[in-house]
Amino acid sequence: MITLSIDGRELKAEKGQTILQVASENGIDIPTLCYHEALEPYGACRLCVVEIFKGGRSRVVASCLYPVEEGLEVKTSSPRVLDNRKMILELLLARCCKNKVIQELAAQMGIEQPSFKPEYLEDNDCILCGLCVRACEQVVGVSAISLVNRGITKEVAPPFFEAATACIGCGSCYYVCPTGAIKMEDKGDTRIIHNWKVEFKLKKCKVCGNYWAPEKQLDYIRDKLHLPEEFFDVCPDCK
Ligand code: FES
Repeated sequence: MITLSIDGRELKAEKGQTILQVASENGIDIPTLCYHEALEPYGACRLCVVEIFKGGRSRVVASCLYPVEEGLEVKTSSPRVLDNRKMILELLLARCCKNKVIQELAAQMGIEQPSFKPEYLEDNDCILCGLCVRACEQVVGVSAISLVNRGITKEVAPPFFEAATACIGCGSCYYVCPTGAIKMEDKGDTRIIHNWKVEFKLKKCKVCGNYWAPEKQLDYIRDKLHLPEEFFDVCPDCK
């Protein structure tokens, strides 16, 4: 066991845990955008910054990546942390000035408008946190999309910017996106994921008649788990 202090509270933690994990287990709130407990941390948004003190020195680190250490002292809202977080939100707001999630986080830091907005920067809902890419790769095991290009042209896209042929329509990208940047809709018997230019036929439940999941997703699961052909004829509600 490791002993550390967060915001003056002495806490116990397991070796290998991150500061963010220990804080959240103990009800200490640290804002995040690119973190999801089901995925490897990535450190893209830097919103989770905290100040750590050791050996008479301090520095600001991303709490979702930083592992706990014996005797570590952590502050989650020191003046230095708040300055950093404010700058990060200014940058995010400059990129995503119409996005509600970013607007609300910025407002909590007292920012109503970005103080700068470079002309080349188009309005965007995507903060390039990579959660969708990691969910597709690490949880679904499909890797239908990836982060492409560098600098101001960086974006999430299917290979060659064409329709995401590997996508199975599960919507994991849509569900994990922290800013609602991925547009997905179910219309009758069809699911459309606009960002990846794909459409999927939905499976109809033999009992209630509802369309409940993309056929391609069900085929993928059935193949992986060697399930019988008729396994998904009935939706989970009617099973
Ligand atoms: Fe830690 Fe995004 S949540 S860097």
